[in-house]
Amino acid sequence: MSALMQTYARLPVTFSHGEGVYLFDTQGRRYLDGISGIGVNGLGHGHPAVTAAIRDQADKLLHTSNLYRIEGQEELANALARVSGMDTCFFGNSGAEANEAAIKLARLYGHGRGVKKPAIIVLEGAFHGRTLATLSATGNRKIQAGFEPLVSGFIRAPRNDIEAVRQIANNNPDVVAFLAEPIQGESGVNPLTAEYLGAVRALCDEHDWLLMLDEVQTGNGRTGTYFAYQGMGFTPDVVTTAKGLGNGVPIGACLSRGKAAGVLGAGQHGSTYGGNPLVCSAGLAVVNTVVGEELPANALAMGAVIRATLLEDPEVAAKITEIRGSGLMLGVELGRDCAGLVERALEEGLLINVAGGSTIRLLPPLVINEAEARELARGVAELIRNFN
Ligand SMILES: Cc1ncc(COP(=O)(O)O)c(C=O)c1O
Repeated sequence: MSALMQTYARLPVTFSHGEGVYLFDTQGRRYLDGISGIGVNGLGHGHPAVTAAIRDQADKLLHTSNLYRIEGQEELANALARVSGMDTCFFGNSGAEANEAAIKLARLYGHGRGVKKPAIIVLEGAFHGRTLATLSATGNRKIQAGFEPLVSGFIRAPRNDIEAVRQIANNNPDVVAFLAEPIQGESGVNPLTAEYLGAVRALCDEHDWLLMLDEVQTGNGRTGTYFAYQGMGFTPDVVTTAKGLGNGVPIGACLSRGKAAGVLGAGQHGSTYGGNPLVCSAGLAVVNTVVGEELPANALAMGAVIRATLLEDPEVAAKITEIRGSGLMLGVELGRDCAGLVERALEEGLLINVAGGSTIRLLPPLVINEAEARELARGVAELIRNFN
């Protein structure tokens, strides 16, 4: 037993290096990575563009703090604004911090409107992080239990139920924002429909709320567009992202637009490391590669290959009740507890994850090719076939 706090039930494997969609353990055994470090390594392992950017920047300068202008940070903010349609960007170091920034922004926006106790609508099954505010916004009692008193100011609604949001609107003049993941990841890959989100957008406009999307997991090309809301016919006011943005270096971003863009001013939020030269060099390499190599399109195409391959064998298809998600964010629903499949997969040299208890979650690198996508899907199909 090491001196680590045992906050994770870790699997008995240690990786020494990676190459593309494969990881190698300290014994030299190869594993196909179907989870990308929980949606982080979108460009896979050892991508030359990211490695070169980090090396070059490390040679020059790691950190200066936000007391000074950082060229790379401005460049990354501009690149993210271009790909998202947002206007301004705050950098933190994680998804939870990106959401903390959004929550603070919404409260400040509410106070600016004269609302003394601003409230944010959040959804059942949501996951927004492990800090006190973000775990309070999270819709999973297991994550909250023992950490009471929770942060107040969140009103919970069932997902994809626009009537519930309407009722909250009618009964709560203190609401100032709506926060949700376009596709819930941790609850088991549960998408919100474009119709629902479009109707929420209309309610936000009607009541002067901010529409805030948590794209920590869905963003950076994973679902088939740079951000999941793109192609849904509306634009949010605030977007948070992290995970895939750094491909492994810790970075989170809170993007905002229009009336939300100038809300957080000097001295109202901050982070010592946030957006430092090192992480921004990696982030910029990621954005340029995701766009330049058209990885969202590859995510769509390879997601389709995985779905089709999983359903090839009728015996396996009969055990799958549903495949949810978009692009390379896939939830293979088995309708019964399947947590044990993760260790079985590991024995077969396959890295997968189970979310929500009964859903195999697949988040492979966006650079996966067709042969690798088939290999992943056939491996998962084999696990399902033998799962009795
Ligand atoms: C949708 C979503 N939001 C927020 C977070 C928290 O991100 P982090 O672990 O980087 O704080 C996660 C992490 O799984 C996530 O999936």
